[in-house]
Amino acid sequence: MKIAIMAGDGIGPEIMAEALKVLDVLRRDGLKIETESALIGGAAFDAHGHPLPTATLKLAQDADAVLFGSVGGPKYDTLPREHRPEKAILGLRKECDFFANLRPAIVFPELADASSLRPEIVAGLDLMIIRELTGDIYFGEPRSISGEKGNRVGINTMHYTEAQIRRILHVGFQTARQRNKRLCSIDKMNVLEAMQLWRDIAIEIAPEYPDVELTHMLVDNAAMQLVRNPKQFDVMVAGNMFGDILSDEASMLTGSIGMLPSASLDANAKGLYEPIHGSAPDIAGRGLANPLAQILSLAMMMRYTFNLADVAMRIEVAVRKALASGMRTGDIAKRGEVMCSTSEMGAAVVTGM
Ligand code: IPM
Ligand code: MG
Repeated sequence: MKIAIMAGDGIGPEIMAEALKVLDVLRRDGLKIETESALIGGAAFDAHGHPLPTATLKLAQDADAVLFGSVGGPKYDTLPREHRPEKAILGLRKECDFFANLRPAIVFPELADASSLRPEIVAGLDLMIIRELTGDIYFGEPRSISGEKGNRVGINTMHYTEAQIRRILHVGFQTARQRNKRLCSIDKMNVLEAMQLWRDIAIEIAPEYPDVELTHMLVDNAAMQLVRNPKQFDVMVAGNMFGDILSDEASMLTGSIGMLPSASLDANAKGLYEPIHGSAPDIAGRGLANPLAQILSLAMMMRYTFNLADVAMRIEVAVRKALASGMRTGDIAKRGEVMCSTSEMGAAVVTGM
């Protein structure tokens, strides 16, 4: 197994350090894992003048999987868009065709009261959001800001090909098939042509999955239903933009965005694994960040790219044990609870393995 390690910016390096400790345990116990690190995002821009240097892209292409931290920070926000750290993750997704983004939102029993919603609304929640990553308004042309000050125009384009829609919907159906067999397809067909096409194709391919119950929901309603009654959902499938927004929203059902891992897969289950949260520059370098999303991203890698469900489970169980033993980083601590540091949380997970 060759894993590319790309820690990135902000809290990325701190949380990655904890995931690497978990990786060391797996190695010690006999898994043959080779790792190679590369700079990405702002860190790569600072060192090489580009957020996604050729060598970093090549490493991602050569490895079986990428463990990715997070990129971005205020000091880069005024750079030209092609030099901004976000370009690195968008570029990796596009260049490696990591089109299928799996974002599970699972409420750990230990954290049911860490959510801002009432525990009975979220307890036992196990939701999977499938988000398309290579199309939509993120990549659509034309895109520009043009015109003279006072009369400027900003343009982006929601663009989806039939092939792009088809392949992500198939991932949605197949994922539902392995779970509770309910797929909710998210669109905005009442306003947008691209989303009418999405709806039409979902209806078209549904007969191939007679065992899966397909429903459709407009994205605004879905955003509302997620906080009203999240347990009505099993698998949601959405385009790039709507999936981005809904997955941040879903993360808060689980108590903290610091808990949620994700997998971004190509057609051969090669993948990039990253927390869904960002680089959190406000707390970077202070040992406050929650490393669990990064560690759980490693577990997802074991499950989806390497087909090692038992190893994935071993990591997930260790995370549960750390939580059960009362370990809480600031984001999941309740008022009055003792907070632990990033590395204390990592150490607790390692102990539980
Ligand atoms: C995410 C992030 C990224 C996205 C940003 C950092 C480009 O919000 O992975 O959800 O919008 O896809
Ligand atoms: Mg996002």
